[in-house]
Amino acid sequence: MNDTTVKIVGAGSIGNHLAHGCRQQGWAVTMTDRDPAALARSRNEIYPSRYGSWDEAVELAAPETLSERAFDLVIIGTPPDTHLDLAMAELEQRAPKVLLIEKPLCTPDLSACGALMARAQEQGTRVLVAYNHRLTTHTRLAVEWLETLGVGPVTTLRTLFREHWGGIFGAHPWLSGPADTYLGFTSRGGGAIGEHSHGINIWQYFAAISGQGRIHEVSAELDEVEHDGAAFDRIAQLSVRTESGLLGTIVQDVVTRPAQKWLRLEGEDGHLEWQVNVDPGHDLVRLSREDGQNREERVAKTRPDDFKGEIEHIGTLLADASKPSPLDLEEGLATMCVIAAALDSSRNGRRVRVDYSLLEGAGR
Ligand SMILES: NC(=O)c1ccc[n+]([C@@H]2O[C@H](COP(=O)([O-])OP(=O)(O)OC[C@H]3O[C@@H](n4cnc5c(N)ncnc54)[C@H](O)[C@@H]3O)[C@@H](O)[C@H]2O)c1
Repeated sequence: MNDTTVKIVGAGSIGNHLAHGCRQQGWAVTMTDRDPAALARSRNEIYPSRYGSWDEAVELAAPETLSERAFDLVIIGTPPDTHLDLAMAELEQRAPKVLLIEKPLCTPDLSACGALMARAQEQGTRVLVAYNHRLTTHTRLAVEWLETLGVGPVTTLRTLFREHWGGIFGAHPWLSGPADTYLGFTSRGGGAIGEHSHGINIWQYFAAISGQGRIHEVSAELDEVEHDGAAFDRIAQLSVRTESGLLGTIVQDVVTRPAQKWLRLEGEDGHLEWQVNVDPGHDLVRLSREDGQNREERVAKTRPDDFKGEIEHIGTLLADASKPSPLDLEEGLATMCVIAAALDSSRNGRRVRVDYSLLEGAGR
């Protein structure tokens, strides 16, 4: 759909990536931010330094000038503790066809999720949560190989999403450190458990596609620290069990350098390995079977490619909203339910059953 109109709320790091990705589709993009300096920084620094030059077709506008305008797609690319209020405001105004909310969906207290789901249903808006790793080329290949070759009955599943956040601060030179942003506060959707929740989310994805159902129980240990005015978990280690009984592990941290973003699905007949940035220009997928039927591909990619699959997928939903999506609100909310259970488990020293009661109100 080349007359697609997009509003991006939040002209920071992700807002610029997604603005560029939407422009690659030929869509009309408007970026807005409550901070005029962020709009100026997008035009003068972030966008030109990443993509060569500023794109004059991108409109920059103050939020209050846009409240009467309708858009096909609205993207909320602000800090997690603002996501739900901003999303609700969009649904109260001229509700878009698709509303993409950045990950993590919200803060771990999950307040206001129920209201968002109810309002989205009333308005007929498709709400998605931006766990983009579900739609990269190497993830699609992994899914295809699991369907065609498989690894036999699944025995365990492990993910690591371990990345020192120096890289994130490198991409945000205007921030002086963790206390300057949500990143330094687990309660605001930051810390390892929130910022690197791709680890939980991709675990859930591969568990679901291999027929293991949802995460049922969590035992977790988080390394929670207070440092220079910030209060965050540096490391989150989760042992999880699904509805089918599958036992696996998820580890996320903000201290590992170089980063490790890795998954391994173990089966009785073989295993699947998946890695983001196996080297600076490639993602990796490898399926090894005991019978020697092996597949391996290093998928060449650039940083914009991390978001290309996600944006193309949104294009298909804008054309046909009946298509299923691995980014649906229920999926992002299920990740939040595991985050909430992990915090409870770690802080109270007990195994916790994941409470999905909020999801009962979800529906697309
Ligand atoms: N999917 C990914 O790989 C990926 C990558 C980076 C960031 N993210 C997510 O994107 C979100 C934003 O991260 P970021 O790194 O771009 O942050 P950022 O600090 O670079 O940018 C956020 C922007 O939002 C603006 N903002 C804050 N509150 C606002 C409001 N109420 N109205 C309008 N604008 C407001 C700020 O002024 C800022 O310019 C986070 O949830 C983060 O986890 C996802």
